[in-house]
Amino acid sequence: MTTIDELKTQFEADAVSIRSLDELENLRVKYLGRKGLISTQFDLIREIAPQERGKFGKSLNEFKIFATGEFERIKNGLTKATSQASDIDLTMPGRNYLTGGLHPLTMIQDEIIHVFRGMGFTVETGPEIESVYYNFDALNTPEHHPVRDETDTFYIESTGKSLVLRTETSPVQIRVMENKKPPIRIIAPGRTYRNDKPDATHSPIFMQCEGLYVDEGVTFADLKGTVLAFYRAIFGDVETRFRPHFFPFTEPSAEVDMTCIFCSGNGCRICKKSGWLEMGGSGMVDPKVLEGVGIDPERYSGWAFGLGIERIAMLKYGVEDIRLFYENDLRFLEQFK
Ligand code: DAH
Repeated sequence: MTTIDELKTQFEADAVSIRSLDELENLRVKYLGRKGLISTQFDLIREIAPQERGKFGKSLNEFKIFATGEFERIKNGLTKATSQASDIDLTMPGRNYLTGGLHPLTMIQDEIIHVFRGMGFTVETGPEIESVYYNFDALNTPEHHPVRDETDTFYIESTGKSLVLRTETSPVQIRVMENKKPPIRIIAPGRTYRNDKPDATHSPIFMQCEGLYVDEGVTFADLKGTVLAFYRAIFGDVETRFRPHFFPFTEPSAEVDMTCIFCSGNGCRICKKSGWLEMGGSGMVDPKVLEGVGIDPERYSGWAFGLGIERIAMLKYGVEDIRLFYENDLRFLEQFK
């Protein structure tokens, strides 16, 4: 008699682990099939003592009904799950999550910072809304200088034009020198603004990286060496040249050119056949500027530069229109991920 109880326990243990119709079919064959365990038990009835047969047959029948019911129940459960699952097309490609990426100008800025940090420079910042004093006066830019004109500079009208959107990162030089004693070795990357009509090479918002080095015995040779090392770190095997120029806050002043990376200095469309690309301004800090911030020009000297960040990014990434950096068109930005 224990065989049917045992059989039932075994059946239940087998049934709970069924996860598919194939497994269920195996279960059916094993218990309810023509040569299954239940049929085999029915065959044994003959061998049982006649007075026990009725009882045995009855409980075997009950088990058979139970097993058949369980089989149907499990089958319904499985087919329902399958039909629900069939509403989902598992072969469809997954949904992509949108991920952000760094803006190309941020990437270049990070690279610039990395190179100058390696040469012992620290990073400083200053406000983009700047006073006329820091943006012009302290930088020795005379009252009548054309850059002060509203056709060049954005003034904040409500402040009686005492504030501007900084036209260059140079005012950070003044702020740093007011607060630090030499030796000073800093760069100041950031946004700048000019009242320029946008075209392929002009944008009313753009970025510069200022550099400033003030100490005893600092020379123009240090400037040349540092700027060359910087451009070589970014562009590889290039040369630089310094062309005499004028800036109110440096004396002497020079514009920095780099050999054209597209034609290696042979002359092409990009460098207008000159073999050189204009990269920024530089010079020895004017003694008047040092005096203005309380640094003794008899004892200390310094140099400074201001480099265009978009220029570097455009050359490095082959971007031919500066406006692309500010239009936030994802088709452009996603190329830099
Ligand atoms: N501020 C200048 C400009 O925007 C660039 C510049 C020239 C910066 C000479 C300097 C410098 O620090 O020494 O055109």
